[in-house]
Amino acid sequence: METHGRDTILSSRQSTATRRRIILFPLPFQGHINPMLQLANILHNQGFEITIIHAEYNSPIHSNYPHFTFKSISDRFFELATKADAGVILQYLNRSCEDPFRDCLTGLLAEYGEGSVSCLITDAGFHFTQAVADSVKLPRMVLRTSSLGCVLAYVALPFSSESGYFNLTKEDSNYETSVPEFPLMKVKDIVKMTNNPESMGEFVSDMLHQMKASSGIIWNAFKELEERALETISHDFSIPSFTLGPFHKYFPASSSSLIEQDRSVLSWLDNQAPKSVIYISFGSVALITESEFQEVAHGLANIGLPFLWVVRPGIVPGSQWLEALPEKFLESVGDGGRIVKWAPQQDVLAHPATGCFWTHCGWNSTLESICEGVPMVCSPCFVDQPVNARYVSDVWKIGVFLEDSFDRVGIKKAIKRVMMDKEGEEIRERITSLKEKVNLSLEEGGSSHQSLKGLVDYILSF
Ligand code: UDX
Repeated sequence: METHGRDTILSSRQSTATRRRIILFPLPFQGHINPMLQLANILHNQGFEITIIHAEYNSPIHSNYPHFTFKSISDRFFELATKADAGVILQYLNRSCEDPFRDCLTGLLAEYGEGSVSCLITDAGFHFTQAVADSVKLPRMVLRTSSLGCVLAYVALPFSSESGYFNLTKEDSNYETSVPEFPLMKVKDIVKMTNNPESMGEFVSDMLHQMKASSGIIWNAFKELEERALETISHDFSIPSFTLGPFHKYFPASSSSLIEQDRSVLSWLDNQAPKSVIYISFGSVALITESEFQEVAHGLANIGLPFLWVVRPGIVPGSQWLEALPEKFLESVGDGGRIVKWAPQQDVLAHPATGCFWTHCGWNSTLESICEGVPMVCSPCFVDQPVNARYVSDVWKIGVFLEDSFDRVGIKKAIKRVMMDKEGEEIRERITSLKEKVNLSLEEGGSSHQSLKGLVDYILSF
């Protein structure tokens, strides 16, 4: 496999590992599969053999990874209502995958023979796997695919209807106030995180409990961005943490996309002025209403800057693709805007024409934007996204929070702040400085580089 300027990090460790095997198990969603496969590639380059156990739903494309062994297990995902809340879906998967996963893992351990498997690495969200790993005496490490700040928020926030937060609406006087348990967040932010606080609370509590019971946490994050959160977590969780991210920077733009990426956008970008294009994408799972979709279109038309908009089929429930666009929108925009079903996001963000990323603040998107120094406009939808958005706008100050959902006036204002105002220049300076820190962290002796070495030594000590 090709590497991207990181050969020294990887090859220096290559001879150390004795090609022992690691078994990995991602959650079956694009935003979780991407970092797990990237981590698998990083560990493979360190000399480990890789086996991926995965759910049938959203199966990775095996032919893209001829150097890995794949085992698929039944997840009964089809039994679930597709509109279920994240907490419900995640708890369901933790139950439905348990027996097939146990059978698969036991079979693999028998096949590979005693001592040949170093450890299991699962998504932190698959909390049931700790008990399975314990029962077969295999060390389990977790990959947490979101930020450290998000875990701090999960530890602090009271996910329950009894907390009184989750049924509040715009009309309530404390909707705009900070949540005392985690003051970075406002009540209106945590309301967005879930429609079902009980299920979410149950999931979060199980996940945190089993993270603490694991042998260590691997984060797709880098130390310089979240130093204080890392200190707190290292103190509160008495297991090692390894911040060796951002994983995608170890390789050329990732090929783990489950959807075909429309690469024709890159030649369109070549014809745009530097830093002039607004890139809009809300990730692989978020949904928006028809009226929000139309407000996005009006907002983009009003601002009059070139844009590249990813409209995932199905993002507006009930629509096939672009039917809900305002009349004559495409004609009026002409070549000034491109709409695609899925883009090569990392390449788009790295392109000199991209000036701003209007994002849902999924953790992968947030990291990818930081790595390319592209300022953000934040429209978080659910789960960890409101936490990431608060860090982006209020802590790191590398983006602007589109506070009150989607309306064309607010959209124009937010984009203008980033693309045209003095404030935008300051935001760009801060994110450029973070981009430089990312690059340093990956160099020989940098924090992510050191953390990877520490992780390899730790795994070899099992
Ligand atoms: C989900 C959650 O929503 C997110 O909050 C969590 O942190 C991870 O799991 P998702 O919503 O898909 O992920 O967002 P994100 O984490 O940003 O991941 C999206 C991935 O898809 C990114 O790696 C991005 O590069 C890729 N992508 C997105 C494309 O390749 N093309 C696109 O057009 C859009």
